[in-house]
Amino acid sequence: MADLDDIKDGKDWGHDRPADTTRFFLKGAAHHDWGMKARLARIFRPDTGRTVMLAFDHGYFQGPTTGLERLDLTIAPLAPHADVLMCTRGGLRSSIPPESGKPVVLRCSAGNSILTELSNELVAVDIDDAIRLGAVAMAAQVYIGAEYEHKSIANVVKLIDSGTRYGIPTMAVTGVGKDMVRDARYFGLATRIAAEIGAQFVKSYYVDEGFEKITLGCPVPIVIAGGKKLPEAEALEIAYRAIDQGAAGVDMGRNVFQSSDPVAMLKALAAVVHDGRTGAEAYQLFRDEHRKAAA
Ligand code: 5RP
Repeated sequence: MADLDDIKDGKDWGHDRPADTTRFFLKGAAHHDWGMKARLARIFRPDTGRTVMLAFDHGYFQGPTTGLERLDLTIAPLAPHADVLMCTRGGLRSSIPPESGKPVVLRCSAGNSILTELSNELVAVDIDDAIRLGAVAMAAQVYIGAEYEHKSIANVVKLIDSGTRYGIPTMAVTGVGKDMVRDARYFGLATRIAAEIGAQFVKSYYVDEGFEKITLGCPVPIVIAGGKKLPEAEALEIAYRAIDQGAAGVDMGRNVFQSSDPVAMLKALAAVVHDGRTGAEAYQLFRDEHRKAAA
């Protein structure tokens, strides 16, 4: 029989300490459930609200592009220096040690190649496998204005619906078809559509004119892709301007793994994203790190 003699009345009710009613640190995420928020908090650092993601999913349509010939040799050693890894399940299982302990945003679409129509994708990972891999988010492209716009939106909607069932966020990637104009109007449209269909965060590109309108018009966090390889100083300046105009981080690939010093580049990006350093300051840090590593 349960011992009822020793039950004492509670004493410490914290009268002077009201319950925390501030809801969540991340834009647009205050009303999500606990698991969804917990995963978002593994992607975006709660102390800064931002993230440095390393994208190396390119092989799913580009094959072994420069810097990704051997994921085990070039990417696995970078894992400690990024906040999050973004990759395919094949790249992850074959080449990244689970002991790396890094949160993974899983590329969950496929179905095209550089030889065919880019927008013609399908959902290529079952939710069960995303859960099995411990993914903190799933990702797929929306190709707004492209031939297979409708299908690409349906893919992302499917991920959002299955992810919401299990508390897994979806990152919609604003894929740009070959004939699309890369301007603020286009990305404003694409990012807003992605957020309105329910993506918990969105990946887009930085544009020189009007980027702030894109971040303001998108009710969830935006992370930027890096695009084609640029000189390090330029890539860091773009990251700085994007953050300064409201981006919540970067999800960069080629500008990291094709850099002369990918580790120094990740450290420099972290300085911009988390420490508020300018592009020029971060480039100096890149050079210092590079010199140290070469010594
Ligand atoms: C491709 C992607 C890539 O992950 C993305 O383009 C990031 O890489 P990069 O910085 O090299 O542009 O989503 O569809």
